[in-house]
Amino acid sequence: MENTEQLQKELTAEVTAAADMKALEELRVAILGKKGRITEMMKGLGAMPAEERKEAGKTLNILKSKVEEALESRKQVLEVQELNAKLADEKIDVTLPVRPEKQGRIHPVSKIFEEVTAIFGEMGFSVAEGPDIEDQFHNFNALNMPANHPARQMQDTFYIPNPDSEDKDDSFVVRTHTSPVQIRTMEKQQPPIRIIAPGRTYRSDYDATHTPMFHQVEGLVIGKDITMAHLKGCLYDFVKAFFELDNIPVRYRPSFFPFTEPSAEMDIGCLKSKNELKIGAGTDWLEILGCGMVHPNVLCAGGIDPDVYQGFAFGVGLDRLAMLKYGIPDLRTFFESDIRWLKHYGFVPLDISSMTGGLSNNGGAAR
Ligand code: PHE
Repeated sequence: MENTEQLQKELTAEVTAAADMKALEELRVAILGKKGRITEMMKGLGAMPAEERKEAGKTLNILKSKVEEALESRKQVLEVQELNAKLADEKIDVTLPVRPEKQGRIHPVSKIFEEVTAIFGEMGFSVAEGPDIEDQFHNFNALNMPANHPARQMQDTFYIPNPDSEDKDDSFVVRTHTSPVQIRTMEKQQPPIRIIAPGRTYRSDYDATHTPMFHQVEGLVIGKDITMAHLKGCLYDFVKAFFELDNIPVRYRPSFFPFTEPSAEMDIGCLKSKNELKIGAGTDWLEILGCGMVHPNVLCAGGIDPDVYQGFAFGVGLDRLAMLKYGIPDLRTFFESDIRWLKHYGFVPLDISSMTGGLSNNGGAAR
């Protein structure tokens, strides 16, 4: 019989040197498998004389268990190594965006919603909502536009048939402006009221600066001593914050809306040159919103006593603001769902707009 001590040394050395689980398993088979080295030696025992066999059997059993021990301890070491390698390999750095090249973008209109909400939120306004599909009472009548009022024609209304009535006055509309939210808010809440209502609005119109669906934000403030001075101060602060300028010339031109009296349009100072529009300086003016003191008839329609309360309201076209602020030339592209456009004009989702942390986060990460 071979020198088992020497053999044990050799075999344990081989086992300890096994580089991975596969090599270790191959070694196990080569030593202890059906035709393994020790197995073959065990088979040889039968041919030995009885007295030798006993001694040799004992020695072989010791050799076998030593090798088994070596196999087991090497197995444990390799298992830990392989687990560690796998963990290292599958490590995910959760602090990095997943597939940054595939990261989505926030649409400029959503960004403007966020910015406007952040600005008015800071001034103590809350956000109110109303339905896109309105009845004529909220969209027109309660806003001082009774049936056949000529101002109804100004709005290129989309009507929706009312399945329960043939009467044209009962048909629904997709709201032509966010002003019906004024009425819905008054119906629910007594003054003081200080809300903005951003949302979708609809008119039958289509060119580079008009789309059938567009976005507005309505503002409504009602209290006991609200005056036109509050309106002016509030909107001045808004445009400065919105355009992120310390100073911006503004002017109010007399205008007409059935639901405000007096009514005005607000312009901001700008410089129009051939290829550029610079906001905040220069000799030109740009109209940006409609506003006025809430008409007493509107307060009455909303269940508020005009002898006790008064207020101001305004309505801003958000799409136009987005075009102005982010230099987007054609409104129709907003709604084409072109991923290249969104990559260019969109915003990184995690850059939340706030008055303290920055509104536009420097004009979008795409540029
Ligand atoms: N609703 C008006 C429009 O869509 C804007 C407006 C709102 C004007 C509130 C005055 C007060 O044109």
